[in-house]
Amino acid sequence: MANDASVVSDTLSPAVSKGSLADLFTPPADSTLWRKNFLLGAATASYQIEGAVNEDGRLPSIWDTFSATPGKVLAGDTGAVACDHYHRWEADVEMLVSLGLEGYRLSIAWPRVMDAAGVPNRKGLDFYKRLLNRLKEKGITTFATLYHWDLPQHLEDRGGWLNRETAYRFADYADLMSRELAGTVDAWATLNEPWCSAYLGYGNGHHAPGLADDRFATQAMHHLLLAHGLAVPVLRANDPASQKGIVANIGRGTPNSDSAADQRAAHLFEVQHNAWILDPLLKGAYPQDLFELWPGTEPLVLDGDMETISAPLDFLGINYYFRTNVASDGAHGFRDVPLEGVERTQMGWEVYPDGLRDLLTGFKKTYHNLPPIYITENGMASDDQVTDGHVEDTQRISFLKRHLAAVDQAIKAGVDIRGYFLWSLMDNFEWAFGYERRFGVVHVDYSTQKRTIKRSAELVAKFLKERKARA
Ligand code: FCB
Repeated sequence: MANDASVVSDTLSPAVSKGSLADLFTPPADSTLWRKNFLLGAATASYQIEGAVNEDGRLPSIWDTFSATPGKVLAGDTGAVACDHYHRWEADVEMLVSLGLEGYRLSIAWPRVMDAAGVPNRKGLDFYKRLLNRLKEKGITTFATLYHWDLPQHLEDRGGWLNRETAYRFADYADLMSRELAGTVDAWATLNEPWCSAYLGYGNGHHAPGLADDRFATQAMHHLLLAHGLAVPVLRANDPASQKGIVANIGRGTPNSDSAADQRAAHLFEVQHNAWILDPLLKGAYPQDLFELWPGTEPLVLDGDMETISAPLDFLGINYYFRTNVASDGAHGFRDVPLEGVERTQMGWEVYPDGLRDLLTGFKKTYHNLPPIYITENGMASDDQVTDGHVEDTQRISFLKRHLAAVDQAIKAGVDIRGYFLWSLMDNFEWAFGYERRFGVVHVDYSTQKRTIKRSAELVAKFLKERKARA
């Protein structure tokens, strides 16, 4: 890493650099987070930050269509401008570097880089080349996600993830990107959170493309996982030096009582959130309990698909946010039973760091071939305000510290976790919640595009500077 950590002292507010503010972030001395090879970075995604949706030949994505549909996104917000990162990427990279962050996880917008006939769009490709080259020059470790939900609309018009053909088009796209960007990407993730694409997109309709049928969800999931499996060998062939993996969101489900029915409900919750994705990837089979929850929804699986899907991974990206307390719904499913008096974020999500530790240690027991793990997203939304040029996001500082402690505990329990990415580098378009929910460690004023470094980012930077100085 060649980060110039000296810039950080200019970034820190006087209170932090003088040490007059209690440092609520820095991990304890015995934390594994002090190890220099534990990568600490931040994450973003194309549609959430780039804007410039009609520029340089970018085609519409399902999120352009969905967000333009009245009633789908809070306040009618869209990603048309977002953080205007497409034009401000140089300053944004400088900001990342000034914070001493060592890794950056970004995503590539499929509709920017190729057209419906598969013809590459040079201008779109050049944007990512410039960005990734600059990150490399700055010594930042780069994680590039190929699909963070912005499916080209022309593919959705032909059935989207319900059409098996989309998986083959994804492999073509992975081929193009890994040929063009080989050498600038340290780690490729095929998909971000297939659970969200399949379930929120095709199962309950809360996300684009807005369809709602459990049978659609399981078939979309199968084609997403197939797309992943088809892309991995392509990425390996074109860019052998990089790591190849996938990013899954995971959910903790806890039973509302000791009753067998509630215990079963919590089990089914985790099957639906975790095993639905991890079992095919790591065991080569769908969990049969899933079809107890959703009878009659078995997807069409062709010979050889499960072998394709379960090809070995170099890493598994894990995104974790909260837990859900559940009870039996009296039939064969579960229902949420929100707990009273617990700490919650602006999203209403419960702050529950133990869930991250417990899931990770559980996966190690369940999957004998669990790949090395990166926490590719973790963070929280708060209603942050800029006051006198500062943002005191105290809850986030404490949230991050407690989740990093959970990661440390999982590492000490034997889970191979190699890094952690804050979600997110900056406030951005939070899907169906638009711009109201602020997840960044940097504040964005959407009327001026001014970035203001929040206290949380200052303290992360302070820790990284200290860690570097000790190394
Ligand atoms: C995850 C998404 C990411 C962001 C966070 C809050 O599900 O991957 O884009 O919206 O949630």
